[in-house]
Amino acid sequence: MTTSLADPAELRRIFSACPSGVVAICAEVGGERTGMAVSTFVPVSLQPALVGVFIQNESRTWPKLERGNRLGLSVLGSDNEVAARSLAKKDGDRFGPIVTTVADSGAVYVDGATAWLEGALWSKTQAGDHFMVLLEVHSATVHDAANPLIFHSSSFHTLPR
Ligand SMILES: Cc1cc2nc3c(=O)[nH]c(=O)nc-3n(C[C@H](O)[C@H](O)[C@H](O)COP(=O)(O)O)c2cc1C
Repeated sequence: MTTSLADPAELRRIFSACPSGVVAICAEVGGERTGMAVSTFVPVSLQPALVGVFIQNESRTWPKLERGNRLGLSVLGSDNEVAARSLAKKDGDRFGPIVTTVADSGAVYVDGATAWLEGALWSKTQAGDHFMVLLEVHSATVHDAANPLIFHSSSFHTLPR
């Protein structure tokens, strides 16, 4: 069935047919933990090591995060659904239910993630109502025991091994 692309809600529903991982982008900025959840994480380049995320133009959190020297990217695991929901809240303390590890660099990581990557802003390009943000990866840790959290059709799923 062909559907109308003029309706943003319908377009969002169509895009949600594409399964994705969920990544927390978090940093300590001005002494406070700041972060948001994204499902638009994409590995981009090996040399240099670059990853991309797409951020809504009207995000209030991103302008704070981009002031951070280093950003922690946590590829959320199957036990991190509460963290994913909390990091997407519009108001209130997003970190209340989340156990984090704070690096000396200011990058903040979510415990239970399948991988931690430390990134620094590489470029930011307008892409419609989002920014395409590329981050250079400076270090990474993989936690092999954790299974990933999957976002598909507006619901969270797990991926058994
Ligand atoms: C599963 C999931 C995926 C999301 N992916 C993105 C994303 O890729 N880009 C984005 O800008 N916001 C995304 N969000 C929304 C943000 O997590 C968060 O709700 C938003 O940044 C809050 O608004 P604020 O930035 O104005 O504080 C996602 C939320 C959820 C629950």
